[in-house]
Amino acid sequence: MKKLLHLMKPYKWTAVCAVLFTLMNNICVLYLPGVFAKIINKGALKGDMPYVYKMGGLMLLVAVLSGVTYIASAIYASKVTSSFARDLRRSVFVKAQEYSMSDYQKFGSASLITRCTNDITIIQRSFMMILQMLLPAPIMAVVGLVLAFRTNATMGLVMAAIIVITGGIAFSIGSKAIPLFRQLQVKMDNLTRILREIISGVRVIRAFHREKYEEERFGSSCKDYCDIAIETNKIFAVLLPTLTLLTNLGIICILLFGGVKVSEGIMQIGSIFALIEYLTIILFTVTMSILVFMEIPRAQSCGERLSEVLDLEPEIQDKENALTQDSALSPIRAQLEFRNVSFRYTNAEEAVLNKISFTSKAGETTAIIGGTGSGKSTIANLIPRFFDVDEGEILIDGVDIRNLSQKELRSRIGFIPQKTFLFRGTIASNIRYGKEDASDTEMIQAAKNSPGSYLHIFHGKGI
Ligand SMILES: Nc1ncnc2c1ncn2[C@@H]1O[C@H](COP(=O)(O)OP(=O)(O)OP(=O)(O)O)[C@@H](O)[C@H]1O
Ligand SMILES: [Mg+2]
Repeated sequence: MKKLLHLMKPYKWTAVCAVLFTLMNNICVLYLPGVFAKIINKGALKGDMPYVYKMGGLMLLVAVLSGVTYIASAIYASKVTSSFARDLRRSVFVKAQEYSMSDYQKFGSASLITRCTNDITIIQRSFMMILQMLLPAPIMAVVGLVLAFRTNATMGLVMAAIIVITGGIAFSIGSKAIPLFRQLQVKMDNLTRILREIISGVRVIRAFHREKYEEERFGSSCKDYCDIAIETNKIFAVLLPTLTLLTNLGIICILLFGGVKVSEGIMQIGSIFALIEYLTIILFTVTMSILVFMEIPRAQSCGERLSEVLDLEPEIQDKENALTQDSALSPIRAQLEFRNVSFRYTNAEEAVLNKISFTSKAGETTAIIGGTGSGKSTIANLIPRFFDVDEGEILIDGVDIRNLSQKELRSRIGFIPQKTFLFRGTIASNIRYGKEDASDTEMIQAAKNSPGSYLHIFHGKGI
C-alpha cells in the first residue's frame, strides 16, 4: 500500500487545493442558513424590506461563491485522482512487462486485466470521495455544531444527540456491506476469466457445439456476481430510507424543542429554519462520509491486489554483471548448445525435459521432431528465457544464456510462435514488429522465409 500512496506524492499540493476548495464550499454552505435566519428574524418579521434585499443579495453572492468553489474542488480532485490512476496503471503495466511466463501464470491474465482496469477505477473513485467528502466531513460537522450551539445551546445539544444516533445507526447497517464488497472483486475476477476463455476459445466451443454449456457457465458466473451485487444493494435500499427517516425525525425534534423555545420567547422563528438547515447539511455530510468509509475496505483490497502485482520479484532477472550489447559475444557465430537440460513446469508432476543435450551449429538447420506434448515448444521457449532451466545449461557461442541480458539475448533470436498472434494493423506492420526500421526488401524476404504454421526458430541475427 505504501508504494501506491507514494504515487500520490507528486500531486500532494493539488490534493491540498482540492480539500481547501471543498472546505471553502462547505463554509459557504454553512454560512447560508445564518443569513436566511436573519432575513426572517430581522427582515421579514419586522417588515424591513431593504434589509431583506441586502441580505438576499448577500445570500446570492455566497451561493455563487459556493458554486465556484465546488467546481474548483471537483476539478482539482479529479486532476489528482486521474493522474494518480494513470501513473498507477502505467506502473502496473511496466511491472507486468518485466514478468516471466510463470509470473503471469501466478495471477492469470484475466485477473491482471481486472486489476489494471476495474481495481484501479475503484481506487480512483474512492480517492475522489475521500478528498471531496471524507476529509472535510469532521470540520464540517464541528463548524455546523458550533453554529447550532451559537444559535441556541440546548438546541445544539439536541442536534449533537441526533447526529450521533443517526451516524451510529447508519454505520451499523452500512458495515454489513464491507465483506460483500470484497466478494464482489473476486466474482468480477471469475467473470473476466470465463469471458476471456469463451472469447479466445470460440472456435473450440463452436466445433464441439458447447455454446449452451458456455452460456450456462457464463450465466452462472454472472448470477454469482449479480447475487452479491443485489445483497449489497439491499443494504443500501435499507440504509437510504432509514437515513431519510432519521433526518425527518431529527427535523421533528428540532421543530418540537424549537417550538417550545419560540413560544417561551427564547428563540426566534428564523433560527428554527437555520437549525433545520444545519441539521440537514451535517447529517448529509456524516452519512456520505460513512458511505465513503464503507468503500475504503473495498479500495484497500484492490490496493492489496495491485501491491501484489507491483511487489512481485520477476522470476527471471538479468544478473548484475549480465553481458549487454557492448560487452556481449562477438563476433556472432550463432552456435546453440543444450547441455544436460532438465525442466519442469511449476506445479507439474513430472519434468518435461530430462537431461537433453544437443548442438545446433552455425549455418545448420536443426529440426526437433517429436509427438504432441513431447516438449518441442518447451525447448523453443527455453532459448529466449521465457522459462529458466532447472538443471544444465543453454549456451550460445559457448556463453550461458543466463549470463546475457534478456534484451541482448532476445535481440539475437528470431522467433515464430506455434500459435500465430497478430497485432491490430497491417500484415506489413506485423512482420516489422521485431524490427521497425526494416526495409521493404527485408520485410518481403521475411514473409517469404515464413515457414507456415509449424514451429521454427530461424537463424536470424544470432541463432
Ligand atoms: N505453461 C505450461 N504449464 C504447465 N505445463 C505445460 C505448459 N506448457 C506446456 N506444458 C506441458 O508440457 C508438455 C510439453 O508441452 P510442449 O508444448 O512443449 O509440447 P510440444 O512438443 O510442443 O507439443 P505440440 O506438438 O502439441 O506442439 C505437455 O505435457 C504440456 O501439457
Ligand atoms: Mg508445440
